[in-house]
Amino acid sequence: MMNNTSLIINSSKELIGDIMIPGDKSITHRAIILGSLCSGKVIISNGLFSEDCLKTISCFKQMGVEIKTNDCSIEIIGKGLRSLIAPKEILDTGNSGTLARLLSGILSCQNFDSSINGDESLNSRPMKRIIDPLTSLGAIIKSKDYKLPISFKASNSLIPIAYKSPIPSAQIKSCLLLAALFIDGESVISEETKTRDHTERLLKYLGYPFEVNDKAIVIRGNGSLSARAIDIPSDISSAAFFIVAALITQGSDILLTNIGTNPLRTGIIDVLIAMGADIKLIKNRLIGDEPVSDIRIKYSRLNSINISGKIISRLIDELPILFIACAICDGTSTINDIKELRYKESDRILSMETGLKKLGIDVTSTENSISIIGGSINGGIIDSFGDHRVAMSFLIAGLVSKKPITVRNTENINTSFPTFIDILREQNIDIYKI
Ligand code: S3P
Repeated sequence: MMNNTSLIINSSKELIGDIMIPGDKSITHRAIILGSLCSGKVIISNGLFSEDCLKTISCFKQMGVEIKTNDCSIEIIGKGLRSLIAPKEILDTGNSGTLARLLSGILSCQNFDSSINGDESLNSRPMKRIIDPLTSLGAIIKSKDYKLPISFKASNSLIPIAYKSPIPSAQIKSCLLLAALFIDGESVISEETKTRDHTERLLKYLGYPFEVNDKAIVIRGNGSLSARAIDIPSDISSAAFFIVAALITQGSDILLTNIGTNPLRTGIIDVLIAMGADIKLIKNRLIGDEPVSDIRIKYSRLNSINISGKIISRLIDELPILFIACAICDGTSTINDIKELRYKESDRILSMETGLKKLGIDVTSTENSISIIGGSINGGIIDSFGDHRVAMSFLIAGLVSKKPITVRNTENINTSFPTFIDILREQNIDIYKI
């Protein structure tokens, strides 16, 4: 998503007190999607009202689902698994890879034709990873070069899924799980590296039967989802920006409440603690079927880190802000096995390397890795490359920069964290638009 709003941030004093992080993006998408397939009323509280999630609401409204929103909740009147109707227009999935891929699983199995499109960034992202397995079930999907826009032909008789994803991706897994709901017979979906399991947890919470053995999910289609209220934990991926902000800004001591701490999402906390961070998880509890904690963070001197392998999928969205922590800590950090970062809202290895170098940090990269030599951050003008997490990461770097940092193309922050700038201002941080 490209636009012209630039933000300038000046270095800041400590961050103090309680900070309210909005609802989890991944879980909000899934709550709207599965809520729309339930029979009965589903009230979603603490859902994320970001541009990405509003697109999910709009897509399901276009398929006949009654969805109302007010300041703090989303109310869905679901009419069951088989209740969706043909959208009159092409469905717009905006900037959201999660929406495009999860929705594709559902649209492949409907008795109507449909099409989806996205913005410039999303239309350049790979869809072969879902088109191939869906096509192997018998879905009829048309695309140019395996990119959006794509269209789906009505299909009633797909064969059950037996698929192991070669890529560690919760979007691929969830796309296929959602397709499996509409397919007669037993589907088996497995993954080599475990990825976030929000779809599975929500299916279970809504009473849909399936089994998990080791790394395979065994699920039969045409069951039913029972309508229940869904409370969404706050987003650890958004929290990560303020966790790092507090860790790098001298004297900081903050408390983030109600943060989702699903073990498949907490890699960032494990890695920062290994770097020397003072982070404490308190009041550990469950919301629905999701673990949640309050998180207290104090300023800490951080050491460099070397990471690779299975931890990467547990912190995939937090890598840009982790790179900022690495740029500020002592020593050289190397992060391997991160090729997937090249397929996000921007090529995040390239976007972060370009920005960090502009700020005076020594960075080298390969196709699959990055090495960052910790140093001190000079000011400069950074491009977000239309990527919300790149924009927020460099704004956080501004808290400890010798000179102001200007980040260009920042409207994209609204896709995931619309209150990000308000929170910075509440902390008396000097940030303004130009
Ligand atoms: C997501 C899965 C991850 C993540 C994305 C959200 C999800 O993508 O990067 O922001 O909600 O399933 P991949 O499945 O492509 O790794």
